[in-house]
Amino acid sequence: MAESITITDNRSGNQIEIPISNGGVSASEWQKLLPGIWFYDPGFVSTASCESSVTYLDGENGILRYRGYPIEQLAEHSTYLEVAYLLLNGELPTEAEFAAWRSEITYHTYIHENVRKRFLDGFHYDAHPMGMLVSAVAALSTFYLDAKDIFNPESRHKQIVRLIAKMPTLAAAAHRFSVGMPFVYPDNSLDFAANFLSMMWKVAEPRFDANPMLAHALDVLFVLHADHEQNCSTTAMRVVGSSHADPYSACAAACAALYGPRHGGANEAVIRMLGDIGSMDNVPDFVAAVKQGHGRLQGFGHRVYKSYDPRAKIIKRTADEVFEITGKNPLLDIALKLEEIALSDEYFTSRKLYPNVDFYSGLIYQAMGFPLQMFPVLFAIPRTAGWLAHWQELLDQDSKIARPRQLYIGLDSRDYVPMVDR
Ligand code: CMC
Repeated sequence: MAESITITDNRSGNQIEIPISNGGVSASEWQKLLPGIWFYDPGFVSTASCESSVTYLDGENGILRYRGYPIEQLAEHSTYLEVAYLLLNGELPTEAEFAAWRSEITYHTYIHENVRKRFLDGFHYDAHPMGMLVSAVAALSTFYLDAKDIFNPESRHKQIVRLIAKMPTLAAAAHRFSVGMPFVYPDNSLDFAANFLSMMWKVAEPRFDANPMLAHALDVLFVLHADHEQNCSTTAMRVVGSSHADPYSACAAACAALYGPRHGGANEAVIRMLGDIGSMDNVPDFVAAVKQGHGRLQGFGHRVYKSYDPRAKIIKRTADEVFEITGKNPLLDIALKLEEIALSDEYFTSRKLYPNVDFYSGLIYQAMGFPLQMFPVLFAIPRTAGWLAHWQELLDQDSKIARPRQLYIGLDSRDYVPMVDR
């Protein structure tokens, strides 16, 4: 028997049976019985806003798959560029497809000189690189007017390639500006992550070759951050995309969502928290304070994961590999102690609060020399592939414009009072 639910309107006794399909029930069916009665669901906690075949996430069991492939296998065997192809096309590329894809991305890494010289150079000397990135991504739409042609497959593909290729260039340019260093042009002989590291750190040497282990570790982090289904920034991408804005404008909105400390800014908050705790001896008091409602344990808890975030497990291993090269981040011991205490404490276990992707990623970034301000920027670079995969899917599904309802709780109609009478 097909699974369904039956809803009864107790005011009239009318009923409607709604089939359960793909784990959801259609709200348009509900509207047939109850027009004008809205679901009240702040934060979309119980709302599926779309059908998607990009990423599968089972938060209860700690499962994450891109296009069916387990994240653990992709982190071990794949690369960010291959994963980006997979997310966008649904299948892993053949050797020839990958060579063409890598070549396309490599030859779109340059940004227009005006973006750098006039636009980025116009920021205040200590501008936050994430603020610069949000603005620069939006500004790209003014350089590529063909981007508005969103239903032309050729144009769409070109903008996707441009965005994925230029994000590291913009990210590194924002960093260099914010620390007063000259811009470094992309080196197209390098791989994606190595090229980004070159644009970040190169000084006067003719060619910057990053430590291959560090470039690989960064690439693994890019794989882990490439998509995470309907998170806040992807939802922003879809909402803006649903108005048929160009992909640069939609991507800028997604970047802006990622800027917030509850989303892409959490790994920075973790480092600040670990620094505030200061020593292992202070960990028990800190945990006790969190339990009494004084702040949160940053890098713990997740809207969807109610078990250990599978990405956090991989990141913990990657951290060990990175620390072998860079030396151990002194905050690591505090983090490990914090995790140990929290995982055995009833407050955290009863609420299913486990380490998330951000708990260890900041420690790696810091050990690799990235300033805290760059953390959300490092998240935005790979998430661009996920944003674009969802944007493309949305357009192919001919989705409606995002336009939720509200439950009005304001005042009833009243007459205007002239200022002198107030
Ligand atoms: N530390 C202490 N208590 C917490 C924490 C935490 N990190 N997270 C949730 N709680 C408690 C919260 O106080 C509440 O307790 P009670 O039921 O007694 O009121 C309960 O757990 C449920 O919390 P919630 O705020 O209703 O859960 P949410 O699903 O709305 O929030 C979250 C999810 C990620 C915003 C939240 O867990 C949090 O603020 N975590 C810290 C910030 C963080 O690490 N964010 C990164 C998220 S992962 C990156 C990404 O995928 O974007």
